[in-house]
Amino acid sequence: MLILAVSSCPNNREFTLLGTGLSWYPVSMRFLLGLLAGLLLLPAGAYVYVRLGYAPVATAAPALPFERAITRTALNARIQKEAPKDSPVPLTDANLIEGAKEYREHCSVCHGLINQPDTAAAKGMFPNPPQLFKHGVTDDPVGETYWKVENGIRLTGMPAYVKSVSEDKIWKMSMMLARADKLPPDATAILQKPLPVD
Ligand code: HEC
Repeated sequence: MLILAVSSCPNNREFTLLGTGLSWYPVSMRFLLGLLAGLLLLPAGAYVYVRLGYAPVATAAPALPFERAITRTALNARIQKEAPKDSPVPLTDANLIEGAKEYREHCSVCHGLINQPDTAAAKGMFPNPPQLFKHGVTDDPVGETYWKVENGIRLTGMPAYVKSVSEDKIWKMSMMLARADKLPPDATAILQKPLPVD
């Protein structure tokens, strides 16, 4: 299909497909070479760009064009496919309080606490860990947050907790985050205490 293309140029040599009345014209060698060069140039250019050290590898470097859009699309598609819908853990104050305790222990170093200054990790990572009590995930389905915490988000620094925290605790943290704007006072109290300095 690449070698033969229909052309309306009457000067080219013509192949007539017998009995069909269709005419096919050979594509010139120059066109083919041009196409081939075009196809090779793109990966070659990408290789030179990376090899000469232009690609952003520093965490502090700005994002590549479309980097965020491409990774978001991939992540959202996977989550749509895999995320569980409802929490098997009942929504009670005791479970939200336990979720707050677990969050404080595992997550606050990156995602912050209520009315506390951003940590060094919060300021220095790329992408930045969202400060979940400022720009939270209360509008995300709880199953989506559960998926992110269980599996992590590749190449962002967001760890997967599947090997270190029980499913039960991941659900409790996810439920706490889903209701971060209407938590019982005892949970809020846990999340307001500053992180220990030593
Ligand atoms: C080492 C730092 C770090 C730790 C610890 C960490 N995260 Fe993250 N987390 C990140 C980063 C960075 C992102 C942003 C990923 C991105 O931009 O796609 C993120 C993203 C998220 C998101 C998605 C936020 C959104 O707006 O969609 C959730 C939810 C989340 N983390 C929850 C948690 C929970 C719960 C814990 C603790 C069990 C935790 N994270 C621990 C770094 C961390």
